[in-house]
Amino acid sequence: MADALIPVEDLSEEQAGQELIRLAAAIAHHDALYHGNDQPEISDADYDALKRRNDAIEARFPTLVRSDSPSQRVGAAPAGIFSQITHARPMLSLDNTFSDEDVADFVASVYRFLGVMPDNSIAFTAEPKIDGLSMSIRYENRRLKTAATRGDGTTGENVTANILTIKDIPTELPADAPDVVEVRGEVYMAKSDFLALNAQMEAEGRQTYVNPRNTAAGSLRQLDAKITASRKLKFFAYAWGEMSIMPSDTQSGMVETFKRWGFPVNPLTRRLTSVEEIITHYRKIGLQRADLDYDIDGVVYKVDRLDLQARLGFRSRSPRWATAHKFPAEQAFTKVEAIDIQVGRTGALTPVARLEPITVGGVVVTNATLHNADYIEGIGNGGERIREEGHDIRIGDTVIVQRAGDVIPQVLDVVLEKRPETSAKYEFPKTCPVCGSHAVREKNDKTGKLDSVTRCTGGFVCSAQAKEHIKHFVSRNAFDIEGLGTKQVDFFFDSEDPALMIRTAPDIFTLKQRQEASSLTRLENIDGFGRVSVRKLFDAIDARREIALNRFIFALGIRHVGETTAKLLARSYGSYAAFAEAMQEAAPKFGEAWNELNSIDGIGEVVAASMVEFFKEPRNLEVVSRLLKEVAPLDAEAVTASNSPVAGKTVVFTGSLERFTRDEAKARAESLGAKVAGSVSKKTDYLVAGPGAGSKLDKAREVGVTVMTEDEWLALIGG
Ligand code: IVH
Repeated sequence: MADALIPVEDLSEEQAGQELIRLAAAIAHHDALYHGNDQPEISDADYDALKRRNDAIEARFPTLVRSDSPSQRVGAAPAGIFSQITHARPMLSLDNTFSDEDVADFVASVYRFLGVMPDNSIAFTAEPKIDGLSMSIRYENRRLKTAATRGDGTTGENVTANILTIKDIPTELPADAPDVVEVRGEVYMAKSDFLALNAQMEAEGRQTYVNPRNTAAGSLRQLDAKITASRKLKFFAYAWGEMSIMPSDTQSGMVETFKRWGFPVNPLTRRLTSVEEIITHYRKIGLQRADLDYDIDGVVYKVDRLDLQARLGFRSRSPRWATAHKFPAEQAFTKVEAIDIQVGRTGALTPVARLEPITVGGVVVTNATLHNADYIEGIGNGGERIREEGHDIRIGDTVIVQRAGDVIPQVLDVVLEKRPETSAKYEFPKTCPVCGSHAVREKNDKTGKLDSVTRCTGGFVCSAQAKEHIKHFVSRNAFDIEGLGTKQVDFFFDSEDPALMIRTAPDIFTLKQRQEASSLTRLENIDGFGRVSVRKLFDAIDARREIALNRFIFALGIRHVGETTAKLLARSYGSYAAFAEAMQEAAPKFGEAWNELNSIDGIGEVVAASMVEFFKEPRNLEVVSRLLKEVAPLDAEAVTASNSPVAGKTVVFTGSLERFTRDEAKARAESLGAKVAGSVSKKTDYLVAGPGAGSKLDKAREVGVTVMTEDEWLALIGG
């Protein structure tokens, strides 16, 4: 800070401009320290003073407000260190496969979807799955323009300055490259560089890093690009985003092109056609894994032809044309010290083994899930053995623990020889450990078998369920409220203070008001909050007073309604009012509204029933109505492909289709913004009928729905 600050009213315009530059940089710097879990350099009060000065200067010189001014940041959204970049094409993730059978299934599903006999005519690429961070690097007119992390797949962080320090990544492309190019791939740290860095850290008496992946991530998230430069990050190109011209029509051709443009591409990539070849290559890479100078966690298979990729398209988060074949998980032996029961949002009682800490594949594991009562017992509810020998798991047992990727570690098996003589069978609780209500295993009406999940019947009475519900509500894919993490929700939920407590979701939105009205408990005086973080929290909450309808529906935490279902519902009903009304009307589980709900492709009877039950419960309606006083769910965007002739239309396919498979027809229609329903109703716009169409065709004629052949449909959607 300047030694003596000139009072704002005495600043000349030139001085004001200089000051605003300095303040923008200083505030960004302190934001970065604050968010990067580093030690802040100034007190909250000093930080506030900087912001106030910035605001005061801007108020006096409105024409000098800078685009990077702290006052220009809306709400708390870009609270991170870096600015945000919206990806021109989303960055998706991959489905995982674990066994040879899974791979065969994947290949078969590709043939099935495309309606081709499985005759090895479709080629796949097999590429190592690099364990680093995915990155999208955009070139305009052959110059590196921006680089962004994956983020949530739609928006990532702008790490251009840091990426420019990576020697592997060209800053310019050759003259034959198209005008707009987005190259995607993995930034990683070589194992040898990681070991050298840790040796240096140790020599300096500093904390060492856990693994190359986390270190690479940390190195990229440096505000000071010089630090990134010193970390010797590397890159492999394997995918792309927006391209003004496609330089090739195959995956392998694209990767070849990237190589020609100067990007490193992985030398172990192959183009293969049969499942056998694919598996053989996978095993070969597995054998080389330990000797490679970079971490890989599997092999990615992709359909080579891009026209076939386009036909296969995407599920909600991952392409149908690719899968990641993961390497087997890492295992270790340890002891079960205790078995705790966690109560989830829907009341499920999940047993968790507390373990003697053990390193599995470089990560310290202290807990592992035991799934449910049957899993502990070792015998399934059909009498089948769960582990090889069907042994039960007991406190005191030595067990094999497995960790695969980011999933929760599991207890695989018991080492019976090491079982203490005094051990006793674990008794699964018959009541909820949190609220004391009965815990029951429901019977599945269809199979007549007991459900594997034991559930607390306490509902709203159970504070564990209520608390978990709030955690779900604020989670990333729901309301995504920054600053309200697990720890904070625990704090607010457990608080007895009326100015602080959050017991239901609407309470989140009244917190600020309650704080302002109360002269007693100031949040900023509570350990772990502070003035800046309180303001940020309130900003983050206010930023969500308008929210996408699908997020709103997902956040309600209705059993069986995940993100994909919530999206389907938002798209089908368009507005919250229409959705809620339909749920009320569907309550008797028959009639038009119920049929319509069930006709949404992707929504089955179990999901439909669960939704109707949710909206029957007065307590749910009460919470939702309080919530709606605070929050406005935005109407769902009409449809993505709004210029398509079938956008917003409801179509039903029936009969045997000849030009494409049912799955492909459905995926294609949806990508054009149409809704695909399973049954004909008055709301159906088109019935596409192939040969052999029966009752649906009759119904369509009866209610006057436009009926067309497959060819007519193709002509309508443009071939
Ligand atoms: S393709 C639409 N290829 O794995 C598919 N991903 O689980 C885009 N990854 O986010 C991804 N190596 O970070 C692809 N050869 C490879 C990969 C790879 C590593 C990572 C990537 C992605 C994640 C998906």
